[in-house]
Parts: sequence; structure tokens; C-alpha cells
Amino acid sequence: MNTSAGQNADSAEKNATNQNETAADATMISLVNGSDSPEDAERIHWESGRRLWRTVEKNADTITAVGHECVKSVVPLDLLRYLYLPRHPHDRYFDTETRTLSYIRSRSFLPVKSLPPGQRKRILVTGGAGFVGSHLVDRLMLMGQEVIVIDNYFTGRKSNIAHWIGHPNFELIRHDVVDPFLIEVDQIYHLACPASPPHYQHNPIKTVKTSVMGTINMLGLAKRVKARFLLASTSGMYPKYPILHYPIPHLSTQIYGDPEVHPQSETYWGNVNPIGPRACYDEGKRVAETLTYAYRHQDHVNVRVARIFNTYGPRMNENDGRVVSNFIMQALRGEELTIYGDGSQTRSFQYIHDLVDGLILLMNNDCDLPVNLGNPDEYTIRSLAELVRDEVNPDSNITTLKAPVDDPKRRKPDIARAEDKLGWKPTWPVRQGIQETVHYFRRQMEAGLV
Ligand SMILES: NC(=O)c1ccc[n+]([C@@H]2O[C@H](COP(=O)([O-])OP(=O)(O)OC[C@H]3O[C@@H](n4cnc5c(N)ncnc54)[C@H](O)[C@@H]3O)[C@@H](O)[C@H]2O)c1
Repeated sequence: MNTSAGQNADSAEKNATNQNETAADATMISLVNGSDSPEDAERIHWESGRRLWRTVEKNADTITAVGHECVKSVVPLDLLRYLYLPRHPHDRYFDTETRTLSYIRSRSFLPVKSLPPGQRKRILVTGGAGFVGSHLVDRLMLMGQEVIVIDNYFTGRKSNIAHWIGHPNFELIRHDVVDPFLIEVDQIYHLACPASPPHYQHNPIKTVKTSVMGTINMLGLAKRVKARFLLASTSGMYPKYPILHYPIPHLSTQIYGDPEVHPQSETYWGNVNPIGPRACYDEGKRVAETLTYAYRHQDHVNVRVARIFNTYGPRMNENDGRVVSNFIMQALRGEELTIYGDGSQTRSFQYIHDLVDGLILLMNNDCDLPVNLGNPDEYTIRSLAELVRDEVNPDSNITTLKAPVDDPKRRKPDIARAEDKLGWKPTWPVRQGIQETVHYFRRQMEAGLV
């Protein structure tokens, strides 16, 4: 074969492959968007998923992949979307006439990276059935890691990770972190803890036990098996609470007071009321950080601490009173969107995939100082309400109610350390994140699940 004929044959083959891949991608997208039958789903998602792996790319205008090459966490967005936005949930069928749910046993899984044994890590995710944990599990699984989840399902749902049950790289164990747990692992992402006020205030003593005893147990495990340990801490370290309000409109995790400095960097030590209704969570997390560094200094445990700011996305709990899910559910139910105050107060909203990127980068980085992970873009509550209204139902009304006293005017993370040490910054525009989240809640409503 001469060179030009060879090139022609090469390019013909490439074109055919590209066409196949494009067709597969279209199939995958149509599955996500909903035009295929559930019977075809299993066969097609497996084939398309395999091809999608070859088309991982980041596009300046639209996000089509997430992750960072340096830690091999890049995966095509549509693979992840297939897990939380399937037209037909993989494991169940909802009959709208009889209002019955049929659970279907899954037989195939999305393709995961094949790592040589030396590179594949055994990773424990506590709280892996929750909102953040389940997205972290999806990513680690697709990266080819071996993942063990422990969860007591207090706020988490088995359905968030049901699509991995039975996979050889995956194990799900019902366990409460307040009790000791023994297992051989290389890394521990310690996320187990209810994160929204109605849940952590439901049983404050249990919340403190989860933060304190759960963290001691997981640090003890990390010490014993020499695993690297990452604590999911919170921006709730930072606020001060001049006046206690209860109950709280929007139940935003940080609605009790204004931080003393703005934006909040890791060097700010915070000012927390130790006896307020949020203390079980904030003080619990502060002790968890203290324990983490005590194990680091005394027992040389390899630790990482992520201070997470307000995060949203698919699989959020629809009832936990956070502003994003509140607005979306109100708009989907055809209700008025309610703003507390005039709506000029700003908040920052981090999309879930950005947070997962940050957690994986931090776990695999040398930085053992606390690192803020949040989106510094400030959004007014009114513009967020308008964005949700325009996405869901432009005819919805937006009403304002009295603002809570001392509702913080601004909330913004300083992410200089994450940028400097991890090379991380959020990439998801609020509009795209809101669209995905609306899509998710709409599907949940259609399936009779919310
Ligand atoms: N989502 C956010 O905006 C945010 C902000 C700051 C910090 N965080 C932290 O991130 C972590 C995850 O938050 P999330 O939003 O996914 O919350 P979530 O409530 O959805 O998930 C927490 C998970 O932990 C499990 N859990 C709770 N107590 C447990 C116990 N004693 N034993 C075993 N499992 C237990 C729950 O069942 C759930 O699956 C939490 O530690 C939270 O403090 C989250």
C-alpha cells in the first residue's frame, strides 16, 4: 500500500469510527434525554458508554467532561449523567396508572477504567449513599478504583448508588460510623454526617456523636492500616452567630449569622456559638478537624481536610430546605418562589462535579492544610430565583417575605489555597448546573419519587 492510499484507508477508518462514535453518542444522549425504550437501555448504555470513553474532551463553551488528568479523574459528563438522569431509571419502572414500582435487577454496568492491580486503590467512602458521597462514588468507580461504602442511611439513599450494587469493584455496607469498623483500605473519604439543618438538628446528640466518635473511629482505622484520610469539613467553621433564629427561612446551612471577614479564607478561625441550635454540627466539625490534626501530629496519620461551601446538584434532598432545591421544587409544583428579604443578599453556589474534582485532587495532593472548596462567584438570591423561574416556568411569581434578622448579606469562599496548591477552581456556570438539577428533579417528579 503506498503512503497516500494508506493515509486514505486510515482516514476512511477514522471517519467510520467517528461516525460510529457519533451515533453511539447520539444514542447515549437520546437515552439521557429520553427517546429509547427501557429494554434497549441496558445493551445501548454499555456499548455507548464504552465509546464515550474515547471522546472525553473539554469544550470552552459547553462542559462535556469533568475531572483532572493529573489524578486521572477525567470522565465524559454523559456517563455521569446517565447515572443520575436516565430517562428510565436503571433499576425500576414506575406505573403511573397503578402507582406501583417494579424493581428490575440490573445485569450490566457502565464500563469502568481497567487499572493494573498496583494502581487500583481500595477506597472507603463513609456516607457514600448521600448527595456528595454518591457522586464521589460514581467518579471513583468510573476511574477504575475499588470502592467500599459504609452508610447508615440516615439521610442517604440506597437508590443513589444502586447502579453499582453487584459490581466486582463495589461493596455497600450498612454501618454506623459511631461504631468501630475494620477493613484494609488505602484511602478514606470521611463524609458521614447529616449536612442540612433539619436533619442534623433532628437529633443533635447523635450529630455530635457522628462527628466526634465517627471521626475517631475512622482516624483510628486510618492509623491502623496506614490509609490516607480526608475529612469533609464545612464552611460552617467560619460564621459567627450574633442572634439565634429558629425556625429558619430557607434553612440555608449558614443563615444564622455573618462571618466577621469576607471572603472567608482558611486562616480565619471562625466564631461559633457553642450552645446554639447549629452547634451540634459546627462544633462537631470543629472537633473533627481538631482530632484530624491531633492524629496527624501524634500518630503521623496522613490527613487532608476539605472545608466545603454550599454545594448543589442532582440527588440533593428535596426537603432539606436549601435555597436551590426550594426554588426548583416550588417552580416545578407551580407555586410561587419565595425570597426572604429583598433578594439582594448574595450567596455562592458550587456545582457537585466541581466539588468532586476538588476532593479527588486534594486526596491525591501533598497539601495537608485545610482547603476551602467552594465557588467564589456571588449570585443574588433574586437572580437565582429568576434563573430557576426562567428554566422551569416563566409564569411563576416571585414573592418576598420578611428577611430573618442578621441574614448575612454576602457569603463567599476564598479559594486561593485550592488554586495554588491543587490547581483547582470551579468550572461549572450556575446556569448549566441549575439546568442539570432542574432536569433531575423533574425526572424524580415524573417517576413519583418526590
Ligand atoms: N452539601 C453541602 O453543601 C456541604 C457543605 C459543607 C459540608 N458538607 C459535608 O459533606 C458531607 C456530605 O454532605 P451531603 O451534602 O452529601 O450530606 P448527606 O446528608 O446527603 O450525606 C451524608 C451521608 O452520611 C450518612 N450518615 C449520616 N450519619 C451517619 C452515621 N452515623 N453513620 C454512617 N453514615 C451516616 C447519611 O446517611 C448520608 O448518606 C458531610 O460531612 C457534610 O458535613 C456538605
